[in-house]
Amino acid sequence: MKVGYYQFRPLFGKIRHNLNKVVKTLEDVNADLIVLPELAFTGYYFKDRQEVKSLAEDPDNSITIDSLSALCRDRNFHLVTGFAEKQKDKYFNSALLIGPKGIEHIYRKLHLFNEEKNWFDDGNIPLQINHIQDARIGIMVCFDWAFPEVTRVLALQNADIICHPSNLVLAYCQQTMLTRCLENKVYAITTNRFGFDKRPFGNLKFTGRSQIVAPGGTLIHRAQSQREELYIMEIDPALARDKSITALNEVLADRRPEYYSNLN
Ligand code: ACM
Repeated sequence: MKVGYYQFRPLFGKIRHNLNKVVKTLEDVNADLIVLPELAFTGYYFKDRQEVKSLAEDPDNSITIDSLSALCRDRNFHLVTGFAEKQKDKYFNSALLIGPKGIEHIYRKLHLFNEEKNWFDDGNIPLQINHIQDARIGIMVCFDWAFPEVTRVLALQNADIICHPSNLVLAYCQQTMLTRCLENKVYAITTNRFGFDKRPFGNLKFTGRSQIVAPGGTLIHRAQSQREELYIMEIDPALARDKSITALNEVLADRRPEYYSNLN
């Protein structure tokens, strides 16, 4: 299976520009699954909820989604992309799985980071798995990395590949995802953006270093911090079905949930 990421620098508020950039970059690419950053078309550093309202789109009535669906149809691949989602009077920091037939799943970020709590509504859709060919795909967004429950719940639903659109500003995630992939024996594709959102009220810098990690926690490939990169590689999703970590241990089967009851 050919999977990869496109690390780029969205320009804040320039949805058409960002969309054209993605479509142009991917229009000749052969792959099965490509992961784009969080909020890939709007940019990230909103002034307030009002500004989210002015930029978010309803996926059922969105030129952005229509154009990405057409791209998936033309290239016969799937995309997982961050997306500022409008749903009636609610606004979600979402990730969409889009394939040749259009949207296959919407994930709404469960763990909002910092000021996102002022901009977005809390995600309200249970974690679930989707299939691309024989591979089982789980989706999480950026700061979900800090909650090991998310990757674990997806692994318990038999995810092979965690797709992880991100707009990272802290330095911890890339290293932490090696552990998430070790402790769950899954692949993870973390796609981060790079560059700044420069706004009148302040600047935010994003850390790049998008990466693909193998089920043992091995880093397969990592992008540079501040450089655009499209990276596609061949993986075998079935490797994520071997959960052994020693001859006598398996990361999921050896759990003792009867002793974890205070997790709730
Ligand atoms: C983040 O969740 N965008 C840091």
